[in-house]
Formats: sequence, structure tokens, C-alpha cells
Amino acid sequence: MSWTEEGSPYPRHPQVADETDEEAVEQLLEEVGTETEPRPVLTVEGLEARVAVVTGASSGIGRAVALDLARHGVHIGFNFLDDEEGRSRHEADEVAEEVESFGVRVFYQSCDIGLSQDVTRFVSKVEEELGGLHILVNNAGIGIDRALWRMSDEAWETVLRTNLSGAFYALRAVAPRFRAQEWGKIVNVASVHGIRSEFGLANYSASKAGIIALTQNAAIELGPSNVNVNAVAPGYIRTTQLTDRVPSEILDRARERSVLGRLGDPQDVAGVVTFLCSEAARHISGAVIPIDGGYLL
Ligand code: NAI
Repeated sequence: MSWTEEGSPYPRHPQVADETDEEAVEQLLEEVGTETEPRPVLTVEGLEARVAVVTGASSGIGRAVALDLARHGVHIGFNFLDDEEGRSRHEADEVAEEVESFGVRVFYQSCDIGLSQDVTRFVSKVEEELGGLHILVNNAGIGIDRALWRMSDEAWETVLRTNLSGAFYALRAVAPRFRAQEWGKIVNVASVHGIRSEFGLANYSASKAGIIALTQNAAIELGPSNVNVNAVAPGYIRTTQLTDRVPSEILDRARERSVLGRLGDPQDVAGVVTFLCSEAARHISGAVIPIDGGYLL
């Protein structure tokens, strides 16, 4: 078939053929845009009794990932960063309770992902407490946004250390175990901003582009040991502490730029992460999957 003067050779979808139906499509998009209830989006089999490390799971995307894996029978080890007000500790306690409500075991502690030796100790402790190690989700991450000519060394280094070095430390800690057992799943949480940057994100974009390169390298080095390594690249995800700090005009613009006309929920990311950890995705490695409602188009 080929295109003709009349247009596409394929029959037009009857639902978008006349104006009444276009209204229906618009209405549908509006409903999708106002959907707020985060619900499980996927159920996969074969993850029961595995053990996962999820970094930074006291809130946002990490919390949703930990709960979704727990829902699939995975024991969860997670860390978080303590703050002075004890807010993260309180949130972590709540996440641990929610994880346990799925009938799986949980181990959690405060551990700065940017401190190499602490991360090594944390990963060993998870293995010891939960009796194995099969999945790593590198999620812990922060943003300190500034125009690059106003960006301090500290803002640059803290973001690179947390988002990129932290992921490397955790990856390096699990690699010998995954290689020895010839089985493992690693999912790194990158960002659309690791693929296309925006104003103010020099440190953040560099860290997330680095995560993508790290994902590809680890996929090459660990593939022969039957370890899948992939990245997800979320667009703007609401109801997380990271987006709480983003001005509402930027979120409105992001919603407009996404072809689905909505921002994502943490659950939208968690469903894809669970899929990548499952055997349904056993032939996917080194991939970067945008979860952005078409924002990058
Ligand atoms: P959040 O602020 O709600 O959660 C971040 C988690 O990481 C918390 O548990 C926090 O305690 C932990 N954390 C922060 N610094 C840490 C450190 N030094 N050591 C250990 N844990 C630390 O953030 P959110 O939005 O859930 O982000 C999670 C990941 O998703 C990050 O890597 C972020 O870059 C990425 N992401 C988020 C998007 C969004 O729109 N929220 C979009 C694209 C990517």
C-alpha cells in the first residue's frame, strides 16, 4: 500500500471519523487527565520469595516500587536518607508496615546512597536479613536545580554523587552475587531529562544521562551471567517530594506537552519496573523505557 492524494491508504478509525466522535475522544482524554487514583496496573507471575533492594523507598516512586514488588511476593530491603525533622524516618516506618501487609519480610535503614562503604554494608545486611538478593532497583535521587552559571560545586557534586555514584555503588555491591547465582534483575531510575535536558538541570541531566550509560555498560558486562539491566525514564511524576518543589507552571507545561495530556503517578513507573523484574521481560536488557505519556515526542 502507498499514500495517495486522498491521504492514508488505511481506513480511518470509525471513532475519529466525525465530529461527534472527536468530542468523545476529547472527553476521554480529559478523563484520563483527571484520573488520580493510583492503582496496580499489572500482575506478573514468578517473583514470589525473591529479595529486592529498592533504594530511596520512603516516598514517591521508590515507595510505589517497593509496594508493587511486595504485592508480587518479593521481600523488600530499602534505604532512605534521614532528615533533621525525622520526616523520612516516619515515612519509612509507614512504608515498612505497608510492605509487611503483603505478607513479605522487610528490612530498612537510613543509609546515604552516596557513601560507598555504607552502601556496601547496607546491601550485605539486606542479604543477611532477608536470605538472598535477586533484584536491585536504583531509585534514590534528588534535584538541586540552578542555571549552570549559578550552580555551586556542592550542588553539582551532591546531585552527581547521589544520583549517579550512588547507583554505581549499589550496582557494584550486587554484581558479584548476581554473577555467582547467574540470575539478577537491575532497574535504574533515570529520567526523560537524561535524554533531553531543560533549563536549570545541568547537574540532574548529567547524572541521569550517566545512569543511562551505566545501564548500557552493566547490561554488557552482566548479560553473560544472565542478569538483565534496564533503565526507566519517567517524565514528570506527581505526588512525589521531587515534584512538590517544581513550580506549578512547569508542571502545567509538562502536562500540555505530554501527548496523553496528563502527568504520571508513581504507580505508572512501578508497574513497568515490576515488569522489567519479571521473566516476561527476560529478553530485554540495556533498554531505556520512557514512562512519560509521550512527553519526549
Ligand atoms: P522523592 O523525593 O519522593 O523520593 C526520593 C527518595 O530517595 C526518598 O526515599 C529519599 O529518602 C531517598 N534519598 C534521597 N537522597 C538520598 C541519599 N543520599 N541516600 C539515600 N536515599 C536518598 O523523589 P521521587 O520523585 O520519588 O524520585 C525518585 C527517583 O525518580 C529519583 O531518582 C528521581 O530522579 C527519579 N525521577 C523522578 C521524577 C518525578 O517527576 N518525580 C521524574 C523522573 C525521574
